[in-house]
Amino acid sequence: ADYETITVEQRDAVTLITLNRPQALNALNSQVLEDLIGAFAAYEGDPGQRCAVLTGAGDKAFAAGADIKEMADKPAADFYLDDFFARWTSDLVKKVRKPWIAAVNGFALGGGCELAMMADFIVASDKARFGQPEINLGVAPGMGGSQRLTRAVGKAKAMEMCLTGRMMGAEEAERSGLVAHVFPHENLLEKALEIAATIASKPPMAAIANKEMVNAAFETTLDQGLIIERRIFQILTASEDKAEGMAAFIEKREGKWKGR
Ligand code: HXC
Repeated sequence: ADYETITVEQRDAVTLITLNRPQALNALNSQVLEDLIGAFAAYEGDPGQRCAVLTGAGDKAFAAGADIKEMADKPAADFYLDDFFARWTSDLVKKVRKPWIAAVNGFALGGGCELAMMADFIVASDKARFGQPEINLGVAPGMGGSQRLTRAVGKAKAMEMCLTGRMMGAEEAERSGLVAHVFPHENLLEKALEIAATIASKPPMAAIANKEMVNAAFETTLDQGLIIERRIFQILTASEDKAEGMAAFIEKREGKWKGR
């Protein structure tokens, strides 16, 4: 498929999706949302694709936020009636059960930081800068920042970041638990694709199951989460890949996955 605002490439079993509006620092407008929903649906529906990486084109930004020029003159009633920003969660995050990684190569501000936090995890270049600067525009996060950032780094840092609008560098982001790994800028994409290839080599149904149970930790009580974990674990024991994985271990060979 052809997209206006992103590019999509397949590298073996890894889908690489690149936000491609570098002249606007990859700001997220409605077309980007449509394109991402399309690309992630294609990824989700292709059994040959087993992990995805989302990054930003250009040297400066992952995404510098929701597109301010698109929002500037929009009446409040339209934001409310369109339930503006709802589809980022309902049609993107919730519909993608397969794993995907955000490779943050520069500014991840406002909606850009929020989009990165929608990923299963973030890897960052040493030039990455995270922030929720919406307060400077007289607004506040609208795509999950107040919730996901708080869960990721805790109340103190999340509150401070939202109230001051300051940016957090890569090293602090890793130390605070926002980011899984920081890599030198020039190696970021290669490293992200390497991690994605590792994930893509795992039994795919187990990958979905692992993702589902870790996500449950953010949405339920401990008791409910532990039940979800046990039930999903128990379902996996019926899979062909469980039989293969355990046989392969005992026979000291690599497993061959069926994805079921
Ligand atoms: C639209 C944007 C943009 C954005 C940058 N650009 N961010 N356009 N929406 N969020 C455009 C600039 O207008 C400029 O276009 C070009 O990209 C390059 O940006 P510069 O500002 O010239 O670059 P630089 O001086 O290097 O500064 C980089 C920056 C700054 C610090 C990242 O661009 C910046 O502060 N951007 C806005 C960050 C932000 O506030 N994000 C939150 C958005 S609100 P031209 O045409 O002039 O070259 C949000 C949700 C809010 O995400 C919900 C509200 C309802």
